[in-house]
Amino acid sequence: MEMRKCGKSDIEVSVLGMGCWSYGGDEESYWGKQEQSAVNEVVAAALDRGINYFDTAEGYNAGRSEEALGVALKGRRDEAVISTKIGPDNTAPAVLREHCEASLARLGTDYIDIYYVHWPITEHSVEDAFATLCDLKDEGKIRSLAVSNFGILQLTEALGTGAQIDLNQICYNLLSRAIEVEIVPLCLKHDIGIVPYMPLMQGLLTGKYGSVDEVPPNRRRTRHFRGDVEPARHGDPGAETETFAVLAQLRKICAEEDIPMAQLALAWAMARPGVTSVLVGARDLDQLADNAAAAELTLETELIHHLDDLTYPLLEELGSNADYWQSRENSRSR
Ligand SMILES: NC(=O)c1ccc[n+]([C@@H]2O[C@H](COP(=O)([O-])OP(=O)(O)OC[C@H]3O[C@@H](n4cnc5c(N)ncnc54)[C@H](OP(=O)(O)O)[C@@H]3O)[C@@H](O)[C@H]2O)c1
Repeated sequence: MEMRKCGKSDIEVSVLGMGCWSYGGDEESYWGKQEQSAVNEVVAAALDRGINYFDTAEGYNAGRSEEALGVALKGRRDEAVISTKIGPDNTAPAVLREHCEASLARLGTDYIDIYYVHWPITEHSVEDAFATLCDLKDEGKIRSLAVSNFGILQLTEALGTGAQIDLNQICYNLLSRAIEVEIVPLCLKHDIGIVPYMPLMQGLLTGKYGSVDEVPPNRRRTRHFRGDVEPARHGDPGAETETFAVLAQLRKICAEEDIPMAQLALAWAMARPGVTSVLVGARDLDQLADNAAAAELTLETELIHHLDDLTYPLLEELGSNADYWQSRENSRSR
């Protein structure tokens, strides 16, 4: 498994990372129920395959994702790089400290390898938040500071505090390339690694859905889909025809090249400039095996260019707004 360095830090993560959002979920959760036994099995198998990076958040299933990951890593903590995230509303200095301690307790560890600010901070002082994060780093509770869903203005403001920011975790996949316009160039300039989330577009890029109607409603909230149907909230017209036309083309390419679509999508993301680790949510051992195979796949340059050309019209249609859940006007990433 290829390892890549996280920004300016000395932390190395596998090019494929494990997204742990579904861990600790019950029937009411976004991803449905996930038994602890399944989490234990997938985490152990990932480590055995050389995947060392596990991403969770205090907000995932109200802290139960962190707990489930902590349980699954018992006895193997030192083999893993754990990232978790602080919600932006919890970044007032004293609250941030409390929340960091609570994450440490739930994870059953005394240090967090990578601590992300989950979304840009709007309600508190950015200066104070990053000063507190730097203190937590000096105290050894955090090894690396990172951000998630930050646009260029927010990145510039965060860098202006003098904090070393190693990663920006953000939505990036063949159907969602907004960050290439402004965010990737700025990250490259400051040696901030890109950590793509939703590289399979919540399953769309595995080829399992043939039409819009087959996509579960809660996976139709992004600007690829109509914005006037609940639970979408962006209000834009969407790009359903274009999205499914691209998926049909991708299906054809995968058949010709004899590559499963999930592997093509992941290998494409791993090959993009600036990408450190691609986070994918694998729910069972079969999905893990499928996704891990992508890390062994090297796509021909010609094929990559073909995929870029094929998906470019969708980038033009959906624009450079990296918040795929909100219109440009209401974008949280600026
Ligand atoms: N920072 C942020 O704001 C943010 C936002 C979103 C996600 N994330 C992180 O990124 C991680 C990954 O994103 P994601 O889980 O939303 O999306 P994703 O990786 O694009 O999709 C994951 C889902 O696709 C399906 N899947 C995965 N591998 C598959 C395979 N080989 N074949 C068929 N289906 C497969 C599974 O769902 P089914 O089997 O149910 O179809 C799985 O839950 C999250 O777990 C989280 O850690 C971060």
